[in-house]
Amino acid sequence: MTNFPAVQVSDSIYWVGAIDWGVRDFHGYQTPRGSTYNAYLVVADKMALIDTVKAPFFEEMLSRIASVADPGKVSYVISNHAEMDHSGALPQAIAALNPEQVFASTLGVKALKDHYHLERDFTAVKDGGTLSLGSMTLAFAEMRMLHWPDSMATYLPEQALLFSNDAFGMHLATSQRFDDELEESLLDYEAAKYFANILMPLAGLIPRAIEKVGTLGDLKIIAPSHGPIWRSRLGHIVELYSAWAAGRKSRKAVVIYDTMWQSTAAMAKAVTEGLTAGGLTAKLLPLRASHRSDVAAEVLDAAALVVGSPTLNNAIFPTLADVLTYLKGLKPKGMVGAAFGSHGWSGEGVGQLEALLTEMKVELAAPGVKAVYVPDAAVLAACFSLGQQVAGKVRERF
Ligand code: FEO
Repeated sequence: MTNFPAVQVSDSIYWVGAIDWGVRDFHGYQTPRGSTYNAYLVVADKMALIDTVKAPFFEEMLSRIASVADPGKVSYVISNHAEMDHSGALPQAIAALNPEQVFASTLGVKALKDHYHLERDFTAVKDGGTLSLGSMTLAFAEMRMLHWPDSMATYLPEQALLFSNDAFGMHLATSQRFDDELEESLLDYEAAKYFANILMPLAGLIPRAIEKVGTLGDLKIIAPSHGPIWRSRLGHIVELYSAWAAGRKSRKAVVIYDTMWQSTAAMAKAVTEGLTAGGLTAKLLPLRASHRSDVAAEVLDAAALVVGSPTLNNAIFPTLADVLTYLKGLKPKGMVGAAFGSHGWSGEGVGQLEALLTEMKVELAAPGVKAVYVPDAAVLAACFSLGQQVAGKVRERF
């Protein structure tokens, strides 16, 4: 008996991954609910391990494998993605399991070599290639850039099961392994946050990927590499992915700001009231209390982004630079926006914010509003009006 039992996913398929209850940062993405690194064991004539886990969790994975099978009898390891949350334990797994072959996509083989500099060879599989396990088959489908160039998914036709790796995943540590054991609103939020922070820059590739998955065969289970396994709400998550990939927006605005002496904060509140009065749902995110990855999650379905910063040393406040650099990289599309902020003397902040929004291809709905030191009633009215003008531009579009 092991302290880390495997969890049966379907006939002869077991989850043998690890739960990382304590992780709070995933390369800059804040993960307040932890994460899981999902590995799966296919118990067939030839046993296959699909992906591994982050390096410190190797023993947990090995223990789960040992709960259902002799780890020494694993013939193949499939590495769907070389990022270290899935391949970190691969060197240890190779040493402990001594598999006959380790498979990855062509780019995956190169990435694994560049990561681990191991002596042993990896076997490249072609897009559309298959591997017989005797009683079952694995079919490989490249998913380039979802999330890295090497990414691929592995389909198991006999179980109508897709090991989708990062796609359809989320950072969520729970003792439940399946979607129908968890609250829908929690899953929807964490899936959206994951999509926004990991997949949004590559959203244009997703419709084809979904189409490709559809050609593989029936789909009853999607087993991603993070978070719960989809066995009941597949249609829902695929529909959400289609909508996010298509850039579906709602009448919602996100306002982000930072402040030194509460002047820009007061402006932000006035802008937010104007947005609301203009018919939008507005989300005000003070950057001292809002992580960049939470901002990204809110931006995913927002039609407007309004940003405020005081001028500090002739520049925008550092938290704005952080979040806007991050958002620019995520390439959200189809938004309108505006800028506002207070200053004492030079006042470059608002212009710099507008330049950044323009670089992000956010359409400016109106010229920015500036306050000298502390906004008076006229400036706050201009901020309210700015929110209304942004709302008006959004209403023209939707
Ligand atoms: Fe979960 Fe791209 O790694």
